[in-house]
Amino acid sequence: MKATSKITELEHVAIIMDGNGRWAKSRRLPRVAGHRAGVKTLRNLIEHSVKIKLNTITVYAFSRENWQRPQSEVDLLMNLFISALHSEVKDLHKNNVKLNFIGDRSTFSGQLQDSINESELLTSSNNGLCLNIAANYSGRWDIVQAYHSIAKDIESNSMSIEDVDETVISNKLSLAVHKDPDLFIRTGGEQRISNYLLWETAYTELYFTETLWPDFDAKQFDIAIDWFSKRQRRFGKTSEQIERTQN
Ligand code: IPE
Ligand code: IPE
Ligand code: MG
Repeated sequence: MKATSKITELEHVAIIMDGNGRWAKSRRLPRVAGHRAGVKTLRNLIEHSVKIKLNTITVYAFSRENWQRPQSEVDLLMNLFISALHSEVKDLHKNNVKLNFIGDRSTFSGQLQDSINESELLTSSNNGLCLNIAANYSGRWDIVQAYHSIAKDIESNSMSIEDVDETVISNKLSLAVHKDPDLFIRTGGEQRISNYLLWETAYTELYFTETLWPDFDAKQFDIAIDWFSKRQRRFGKTSEQIERTQN
């Protein structure tokens, strides 16, 4: 199969935007300078995703484990989220981007929760790129909240235990309405999932790059997409079976 036809199979990209701190450190700058540079990178990649007509992009902005960082860094990150939302949301809206936050937003400040809710509301009828932002998210948390919701349905007799299958669980997760990610990208050199989309990445192609997030640009995104286009996704079948369906 030609690489170009494979690109059409790429609907959903999930990204762990890692390496902001090291980028700043290598420049003798405070860590927050790396996070600020990271926001610019994200803005550029969203523009690029709109241009290449990607369907969905899901980025990891803040994990539930990131609360354990020094309070000063957490505070600066929260302020950065608020200011980035204020400065970017109009352009996102103009670009027909639909914003959706996943994760437990109830622990954020009232001001941040308001910004999140307003940005989702403003862009809710857009039908271009869907941008999911994982904030105070973790994959295990998501599975637990899905379990609680299913347990409540069973308790209220609106579902029986026998009804619970993979589709029911998928539909209770934060990304329920989205296709599972086709491509996962982690910048910053670490080769781990860090409690990201644990259920949804069952058959996702995993791409790791040493490039630190602030240095990851459209050209490097295209390299990752090109790498994806050369993968043969088998979903448990044999190569021969896959090749037969492509001819
Ligand atoms: C990712 O960059 C951003 C967040 C986790 C919020 P890091 O801050 O983890 O950067 P490194 O890994 O320390 O370089
Ligand atoms: C993952 O990066 C979370 C985000 C990018 C938001 P971390 O830097 O927190 O991951 P670990 O701790 O190195 O696994
Ligand atoms: Mg990191």
